[in-house]
Amino acid sequence: MSCLRAEAPAKLNLALAVTGRRADGYHTLRSVFMRLALHDDVAVEVAEDGRGPDRLVIGAAGDGVSDTDNLVLRAAAELRLSTAQPWPALRFRLTKRIPVAAGLAGGSSDAAAALELAARAWGVPADPALHLACALRLGADVPFFVSGRGTALVHGIGEKIEALPDLTSSAGIVLVTMALRLPTPDVFAAYDREPPAGDASAVVAALAASLRRGLDASTFAAMALQFRDANDLWAPAMLLSPGLAQARDAIEQALGRPAMLTGSGPTLFAVYPSQVAASAAADRLRRVRSTGLHDAAVITTSTIGSGGRS
Ligand code: C5P
Repeated sequence: MSCLRAEAPAKLNLALAVTGRRADGYHTLRSVFMRLALHDDVAVEVAEDGRGPDRLVIGAAGDGVSDTDNLVLRAAAELRLSTAQPWPALRFRLTKRIPVAAGLAGGSSDAAAALELAARAWGVPADPALHLACALRLGADVPFFVSGRGTALVHGIGEKIEALPDLTSSAGIVLVTMALRLPTPDVFAAYDREPPAGDASAVVAALAASLRRGLDASTFAAMALQFRDANDLWAPAMLLSPGLAQARDAIEQALGRPAMLTGSGPTLFAVYPSQVAASAAADRLRRVRSTGLHDAAVITTSTIGSGGRS
């Protein structure tokens, strides 16, 4: 059988409100998710003899990514379990470009791509409900990627996906991933210790309303100040890593525009009307790296625009 391939895109949380905590410890959210052009590549083929465990080979820039404890393999295992069929063993290949454990949901996106590829390789009949259930067991961000949406209002713990229109043109994005460990469970635990007085729901709703009315990249970039402080995980992330605030100041000073935290971090991002403008800004940032930014990885990418892929 030939090799099947899929792109696994990164995402941004443009605004993120934590709205509650369930009995199982997971938090309910309301957040605008937006897919990025930056992506990992996942490929799969059925093993020649079809026997033994599924295997994963990690290609370029997969440093620090496990080839045994990986969401790609867990996705295939989940699908095998939920379909209760003795499907043949799979051989996956993963090429990483999305920074790992960075708030960009690279691992979750890899898992969604692996689910889709495993289903195609095995010929599992299309069943959106089964896919969604598998996705959610793999992680709260996985359903967004399984939905195939470019932009969505995501709620519940991540399983409720309301489609939103993509930007009418694709915006340039500068990603600055700080070289620090900020595990998502730790950030949510810090949130629980000191929950903020209000939440960012109003900004999430306003942003979703603007997207529904139709938003081009220039207008979107000019609006960034409106959602700069609309991530309820910013305060707990900063409590755990005070260097984040210093980094944000340094980025904002160098770029002259707002920098936001995506998800639970530690990636900060700035929005531009085009990828060309974002590339120029990223170059500026690399030149003027101040003490708070050393070791940070600076990447330029773009959002999805409805006028075609970025
Ligand atoms: O689902 P995922 O594995 O991405 O989540 C990692 C951890 O982040 C969870 O174990 C939980 O502690 C926290 N989390 C949460 N509420 C969410 C998403 C994640 O509390 N909606």
